[in-house]
Amino acid sequence: MDAKTGTNTKTGTLTVGDKSWSFPIYPGTIGPDVIDIGKLYAQSGMFTFDPGFTSTGACESKITYIDGDEGVLLYRGVPIEQIAEHGDFLETCYLLLYGELPTATQKADFDYRVNRHTMVHEQMSRFFQGFRRDAHPMAVMTGSVGALSAFYHDSTDITDPTQRMIASIRMIAKMPTLAAMAYKYNIGQPFVYPQNDLDYATNFLRMCFAVPAEEYKPNPVLARAMDRIFILHADHEQNASTSTVRLAGSTGANPFACIAAGIAALWGPAHGGANEAALKMLGEIGTVDRIPEFIKRAKDPKDNFRLMGFGHRVYKNYDPRAKLMQKTAHEVLSETGHRDDPLLQVALELEKIALHDEYFIEKKLYPNVDFYSGITLKAMGFPTTMFTVLFAVARAVGWIAQWKEMIEDPGQRIGRPRQLYTGEAKRDYTPISRRK
Ligand code: CMC
Repeated sequence: MDAKTGTNTKTGTLTVGDKSWSFPIYPGTIGPDVIDIGKLYAQSGMFTFDPGFTSTGACESKITYIDGDEGVLLYRGVPIEQIAEHGDFLETCYLLLYGELPTATQKADFDYRVNRHTMVHEQMSRFFQGFRRDAHPMAVMTGSVGALSAFYHDSTDITDPTQRMIASIRMIAKMPTLAAMAYKYNIGQPFVYPQNDLDYATNFLRMCFAVPAEEYKPNPVLARAMDRIFILHADHEQNASTSTVRLAGSTGANPFACIAAGIAALWGPAHGGANEAALKMLGEIGTVDRIPEFIKRAKDPKDNFRLMGFGHRVYKNYDPRAKLMQKTAHEVLSETGHRDDPLLQVALELEKIALHDEYFIEKKLYPNVDFYSGITLKAMGFPTTMFTVLFAVARAVGWIAQWKEMIEDPGQRIGRPRQLYTGEAKRDYTPISRRK
C-alpha cells in the first residue's frame, strides 16, 4: 500500500491524560511500519520531540533500504553485494535514478549521455583560481558545485522533467571532473580534461593522476576498485547529507545548490569526514602494541575520543559495505605493493580486538564503510583531504535521485521541523540606559 493513498486498516492511539487520538499506520514493503502523526498538532496541540531523528521517518522513498540489525543494504531492492560484484557504477546510477537495472541498449545510451556531459564550462577553471591553493578540497567542492547553478541555467527549472533529468546527468558526469580539478589545483598541477572513451572510474583516475609530460597508463585493478568504492557509497537512504539535500530541495532551490548543501553536510567527521579521521587515527596509533591504549580511551566516558570508522546510527551489525571495502583494500594493497603497510596491520588488529571487546559488543559498534576506505584510497595515491571528496563524487547520484523523487512526489511540501522552546517567556524590551 502506498502511504499516500491512506487505505490503511491499522491505527495507533496516543493517550495523554483523559484524551486519546488515533493515527493511521502505514506498512513499508519491508522494514518497520510508520505512524502518520501529521495531524497530531492540529488535533492535540502537541509536537513530537525527536532530536537526531532516531524514530522519525521524514519521507516516503522507493530508492534504498537498510536493515541495520541484519546488516542489509538494498538499492531499489538489489543487494549491494550483488551490485558490487557484478555491476558497475553507471549501471548503479541508472538503477537509482530509474528504479530498474538497464538493458544493454539502455546502459549504452545512459553511458553515452553521461559521457557527453563530463566537461565543465571553461570559465569554471578561472573560477577555481579564486580559491587559495591550500584550501581543503571539500571547501572547493562546496563552492564549485554550488557555482554550477550559475553556469547551467538551462537545467535549473525544477518544474520541467527534462531539465531535472539533464541536471541529474550533469551532476553525475561533472562531479569527477570538479573533484579532479580540486585535487590538481591543490597540488599545483594543470587540469586534465576528461577523455570520454574511458570508463567512468578510469576517466576519473586519469584526470587525477595524469600529467601532460607523460603518457598515462590506466590500471584496471585500481579502476575496478575505484568503481566499487563509488558503488558502495552511491546512496544510503535518509542520512544527514541526503536529508540536507531534501530539506534544501523542499524549498524549490535548484539541484546544484541542493547538492552543494549536501556536500557541506557530508564534510563533518561524524559523516563523510570519518574516512579521513579514521586514517588519521590509524596513523596516530601507529603500531599494533598501542591499540589497547586507544581502545581504553574510546571506552572512557570522560574522554571524548571515539574509534573513527566504528559505529553507525543505523547499522547495529557489520556494515555490509565495510566487508566489501575490506576485500577491496586487500586487492588494492596487493596491486600497489602496500601489502605490509603498517596501517593495514593496525587496522586488522584493531578490528579484531574491538570485535571481541565487551564495550563494543554491548553497544553494537562494528566497523563501518569508512574504516577500510581510507587505507585503500591512500594506497591508490589520494591524499587524506581527498577522501571525503571521493565520497561526494559517489553520493552525488544518491542525492540527485532522492531530490528528484521528492520533487516528483505530488504531496511534497516545504520541510519545516518544529521545536521545544525552553528560552525566556515573553518579556519587555529594556532600554540600554536601564540595563545592568
Ligand atoms: N567509539 C567509541 N564509542 C562509540 C563510538 C565509537 N566510534 N560510536 C558510538 N560510541 C558509543 C557512544 O559513546 C555512546 O555511548 P553511551 O551510550 O555510553 O553514551 C553509544 O556508543 C551510542 O553512540 P551515539 O553517539 O549515541 O550513536 P549515534 O547513532 O548518535 O552515532 C556515529 C553514530 C556514527 C556518529 C558514531 O558511532 C560515531 O561517532 N562513530 C565514529 C565516526 C564514524 O565512523 N562515522 C562514520 C559513519 S559511516 C559513514 C556514513 O554513513 O556517513
